[in-house]
Amino acid sequence: MAKPKSVFVCATCGARYPRWQGQCRECGEWNTIHEELVKQDSSPSPGARAASVALSQSGFAGASGSGVVSLNRVDLRQRLRLSTGYSEFDRVLGGGIVQGSVVLIGGNPGAGKSTLLLQTVCTLSSAHRVLYVTGEESLEQVALRASRLGLPIDNVRIAAETSIETICAMASAERPEVLVVDSIQVTHVQGVESAPGSVSQVREGAAALTQFAKRTGIAVFMVGHVTKDGTLAGPKILEHCVDCSVILEVASDQRFRTLRCQKNRFGAVNEIGVFAMTDSGMRQVRNPSAIFLNRQEQVASGSLAMVIWEGTRPLLVELQALVDLSQYGNPRRLSLGTDQNRLAMLLSVLHRHASLSLADQDVFINVVGGVRVDETASDVPLCLALISSYKNKALPRTMIAFGEIGLTGEVRPVPSGQERIKEAAKQGFTTAVVPWDNAPSHPIEGMEIIRIRRVSELSDLV
Ligand code: TYD
Ligand code: MG
Repeated sequence: MAKPKSVFVCATCGARYPRWQGQCRECGEWNTIHEELVKQDSSPSPGARAASVALSQSGFAGASGSGVVSLNRVDLRQRLRLSTGYSEFDRVLGGGIVQGSVVLIGGNPGAGKSTLLLQTVCTLSSAHRVLYVTGEESLEQVALRASRLGLPIDNVRIAAETSIETICAMASAERPEVLVVDSIQVTHVQGVESAPGSVSQVREGAAALTQFAKRTGIAVFMVGHVTKDGTLAGPKILEHCVDCSVILEVASDQRFRTLRCQKNRFGAVNEIGVFAMTDSGMRQVRNPSAIFLNRQEQVASGSLAMVIWEGTRPLLVELQALVDLSQYGNPRRLSLGTDQNRLAMLLSVLHRHASLSLADQDVFINVVGGVRVDETASDVPLCLALISSYKNKALPRTMIAFGEIGLTGEVRPVPSGQERIKEAAKQGFTTAVVPWDNAPSHPIEGMEIIRIRRVSELSDLV
């Protein structure tokens, strides 16, 4: 028998080194490199072997190995989408669960991953075969939760198991349409020497499940844990092999959860779905604008509603700015929810092209509700909120704004202008400050449109 050899593997990115070192050269992380034992004769990887063994025992016809075919001859009928029963979840997945796809659900402990997946399999079970494999909780715990939430459990098949070989074998025998593995970090693959949760185990386990899903057409959900700094354990390795990676984030006020897609081979990314954790489990929030826009009757200066674009739909959020005379020599610039560098750029544009100098002022920006805005459409609202706070003049509660600002002080159009204005009108807004080229061709009922060309006009507006 070959003597076991050891390698040093980075727990974050999976890079391998012949000896220990403090920092990983690939991803730059410190203290993430651990020793792992490898057998030298591992010609097919243990994960691949695990999947093949389960498949050969069950007599599944392999989907791979079909040879070279014309792209237009590929049979698309197999790729049916199943609905999870939650429209918010479906949208994040790009329109439902694709057969044979592998979805990774990440999130902090207690975010509600297990609850969401349990609710999903129970809802699915009325029309589809499902198998829920739990490695972290006992069968009693899962059953208790399901009955407390009043879920339909009659057709749900469940197992407590952590061995990937056994899970694949069970799934081959059960032939479910959807398989849930909670979580990938507690599973282990035969032939991998290191402990469960280590990079090698996670990689081989995920590889085995992926291969299994592709061959059998079973859709697999894997739960993945998030490390202290908010990344998935062994994230790069996992993200490469799955079709879809979604993160369940806990919003700042703890009650709401946003499901955010980071990678999707079957749909758009940047989709979000909003859920609320209630005493009866995860409830989807169909109108998230309503919660992010819960404003008081009297709005103070520096507050403005804006329309951002999240995936395939508009979302209304409140933006707040505070401009205050700095007490120290070095004024502070802080932005929560928007890009810090973009704030610095806009302050310079305001100075050069709108004659507004905030050089001696502290500037704070906050997007209410813990929403993160990565779009340039927040430039115009941001400037309006800054000017409003600086002049201490409140903007109308019914005003909405969006638009990009360029370095020469011009206001540029953003995609989906019409839809943004329509969504704002639906939520009861009556005035929209929009880039000149985003103005709708036909008037929208109940909505006054203010078209702007240059950043200097914003100052007059306030
Ligand atoms: P869970 O799904 O176990 O989280 P994860 O699998 O992501 O670690 O969710 C557990 C949390 O949700 C826990 O803190 C309790 C809370 N919770 C409720 O508030 N209401 C409920 O009905 C359930 C089932 C859980
Ligand atoms: Mg859990």
